[in-house]
Formats: sequence, structure tokens, C-alpha cells
Amino acid sequence: MASFSIDQQPIEFEPGQTILQAAMAAGVYIPHLCFHPQFSAHGSCRVCMVRIDGRTASACTAPAAAGLEVENLSDDLQALRRDILQMLFVEGNHLCPSCEQSGACHLQSVAEFCELLMADLPFQYPRRMVDASHPDWVLDFTRCIHCELCVKASREVDGKSVFSLTGRGFDTRLVINAPDGLLVNSEFASTDRAASVCPVGVFLPKHQGFKTPIGQRKYDRHSIEQITEE
Ligand code: FES
Repeated sequence: MASFSIDQQPIEFEPGQTILQAAMAAGVYIPHLCFHPQFSAHGSCRVCMVRIDGRTASACTAPAAAGLEVENLSDDLQALRRDILQMLFVEGNHLCPSCEQSGACHLQSVAEFCELLMADLPFQYPRRMVDASHPDWVLDFTRCIHCELCVKASREVDGKSVFSLTGRGFDTRLVINAPDGLLVNSEFASTDRAASVCPVGVFLPKHQGFKTPIGQRKYDRHSIEQITEE
């Protein structure tokens, strides 16, 4: 099998795999947010940025090729990732201690892995809608990182088109395709894959609160590099 290296470790790959896919198959963790193995790469968050033969590129979109030398966990790449993660934290309302997704949040856990302890940038505290119209789900849009995973899950797995992204740059927003923009009046169902794929805490089930005790939550038990995405 052909191989390339990540931080000097040889990684075998199948033709057609990206660097991130080959790394995941080999059990080597490259921090990432907007990529999920069930879906095609979105390539938007840039957290998976690596250096390939000296050039920076996103590992989720860069094809694996024999002989490549990939740098992943160097100090300067981790520092760049911290900058990106900081921007995500200050752009939304990620109030981790009071968030139900805390301990199971991909953003929080990647930040811990990258050793981001504090944001130096000013928090924006955006005012965005919280949609509590559905009998079983609350959507808190202030936490959305625009990874597009719920959009893809709704379209590709659920066979619907309940969610979409609108706007550009700082004005990008997740919206619901319903006549009045409310979840309750969309085609959304509680069993939709779109509800379970969110890497942060936008989708929260009603009728339960902080169900898993601290110490037993997903990323309390295992660090993010040991867990395969569900
Ligand atoms: Fe590769 Fe987001 S995981 S750009």
C-alpha cells in the first residue's frame, strides 16, 4: 500500500482518500470541526489545517498521495488553530459552563485538545433567535458554527431540506425552510439525522436537562482524539 507521513509517522492510504480520511483510518488525530466521515468535506472551518510539503492546506480536502510529508501537531499549527477556534468562540455565545452540550461538544473538546484556555478577542455576544416552537426540540442559533453538517444530514440522509445557510462571512446564518422560518412548521422530525449530527449545542432535546452527570459525559471519559464521530 502507498503511504505518506504525518509528523514522521507513516500512514498508509487507499486511492481517493484525503489526508484526513487516511489519518482517521490509521488512528492519527488531526483536529477538525466541519468534517464528519458520513458526509463529503465542507472545507470551511480550517481547523484541520496541516502543512503538506511546506504548504498549508486543509487535511479534509487535500488528497493523500505517496511520499507526502505532512506536519500536523507542530507548535505553530496548533497556535493557528487556537486563533481560528478563538474566533468561533467570540463570534457566538458559547457559554460552556451553562450549556447542556458541555462535555459532549466538539468545539469545546477540540479547543481543549489545542490548549485554548482563554479568548483574547472581544466577545461579540450576537443576538440571534432561539427557536423553541417544536414540541421536542429547542434550537439555539447563537451557538451555530456554520459547519453545514445539519444541512447535509437533512438533505442526504433524511431526504428533506429543512436547513440551509444564508448570507456570507460574518452575516452567515443557519435558517429553517418553513413558511414562517419556525422548526415546528418545517418537515423536521425528532428522529432526523440532522438533529444528532450537530458538533456543538444548537440542537437541544426538550423534557430533559443535563442528563449525563459531570464526569460521565462523552469527552469526560475520553479525549477527542480517542473518539470516532457518531
Ligand atoms: Fe477541514 Fe473544517 S474540518 S476545513
